[in-house]
Amino acid sequence: MLPIIEPFRIKSVEPIRMTTREERVQLLDKAHGNLFFLHSQDVLIDLLTDSGTGAMSSEQWASVMRGDESYAGSPSYLRFEKAVQDILGLPEVIPTHQGRAAEHLLFSIYGGEGKVILNNTHFDTTRANAEVSGALALDLPCPESKNTDDMEPFKGNMDLVRLRAELDQHGKAVSLVMVTVTNNAGGGQPVSLANVRGIRALCDKFGVPLYIDACRFAENAWFIKQREEGQADRSVAEIVLEMFSMADGCTMSAKKDGMANIGGFLASRNSELAADFRRRLVVTEGFPTYGGLSGRDLEAVAQGLHEVLREDYLNYRTASIQYVVERLHERGIPVLRPAGGHAIFLDAARFLDHIPWQQYPGQSLAIELYLEGGIRSCEIGTCMLGGTDPETGEETKALHELVRLAIPRRTYTQSHMDYVIEIIDAVWQKRKTLTGTRITQAPPVLRHFSAHFEQIQEGSVV
Ligand code: F0G
Repeated sequence: MLPIIEPFRIKSVEPIRMTTREERVQLLDKAHGNLFFLHSQDVLIDLLTDSGTGAMSSEQWASVMRGDESYAGSPSYLRFEKAVQDILGLPEVIPTHQGRAAEHLLFSIYGGEGKVILNNTHFDTTRANAEVSGALALDLPCPESKNTDDMEPFKGNMDLVRLRAELDQHGKAVSLVMVTVTNNAGGGQPVSLANVRGIRALCDKFGVPLYIDACRFAENAWFIKQREEGQADRSVAEIVLEMFSMADGCTMSAKKDGMANIGGFLASRNSELAADFRRRLVVTEGFPTYGGLSGRDLEAVAQGLHEVLREDYLNYRTASIQYVVERLHERGIPVLRPAGGHAIFLDAARFLDHIPWQQYPGQSLAIELYLEGGIRSCEIGTCMLGGTDPETGEETKALHELVRLAIPRRTYTQSHMDYVIEIIDAVWQKRKTLTGTRITQAPPVLRHFSAHFEQIQEGSVV
């Protein structure tokens, strides 16, 4: 079989700079041990996020020049609106500056004290927006998602048995069900069409609306085409339309599968509700035909939404992630399988099985990947998702201790991925020399962004 190649050639390049280990030790020290505080020029390969960090195409840059910056009624908005309507089939399109602004708007109506929101797994901003509104946010991931080595093809699915039970238990308090595609916090794993159908049926039975968190909708549809029975001969565009035909609306961060550096939207079928959303939008984001974005941003997203459906692109994207996951697995390195859509997730609990979860093995691993090879990744484990139990004052444990290496779209090549594999392997070879991490200073919420960390010295008392 011929290799799957990057389906583009490179027109503009940005130099990246190698540093020595000694330099990186000092840089990390200045950053209080927190990778979020590093300057990006001091990172060789930046896999902190796939959000807004991808490369735009020549057609997107061309569309940027077409951007019309009129305050109201810009043709750029009309092109944006039409792209969303054509691709997702949702008629009411409300632009926002990014995904979390759409979430904030959504929960300004569906959230509030006493309300319950159900999701396969809330992303952290989705949870934060639901909780800030006063609502209770519950995650209902399928049981297979708990095992990082289970090869079930749709580990992003929602647990339908629990969904029914929560709908029964909370009754009218459940104001909204959401399904996140792909399931980011659950490892970039896809949700099947069958699962969305099951969720829809329960939402109908209980009279609750269903919204999709659509950030990685095209990657999810590609996995459906590859993995779900009876879907292989359909186009990604058709699968996307079917997926969204089951939803009442969606929130979207166009920084992911919108292939843009900024942007987002809230879309809905309900015109009365949309009028209410638009009234609220003017207060915080802007007039409904720009919603906090410039005309050129709207153009880039409209073009990006079409480009992301290209199957040669989706094939290359998922293959490059699968390539890394398989090479790591062959070397016995614990990595979440099957490969997800936008990132490689190392299982730090198994990688560093001598470091207890209270010493944040994911944080230790992420730090060593930077020191060893200048790679920036992100802990998704107890440091990010745990916290202090308000009643006992004890640290609470996250479901998994993961390190996410998120791959920006169309940005790095195969040799960058080969380099990443070798650096991970080098850390694997010396894993027993790594020690745990201690937090020396942290804010009460979203601590991973701004906490200060230090490595625990061998033999010291924690
Ligand atoms: N929903 C999901 C599933 C996400 O992954 C994100 C962002 C958002 C909502 C919020 O969108 O950033 O545009 O406000 N995820 C990024 C990440 C930050 O690194 O995974 P936003």
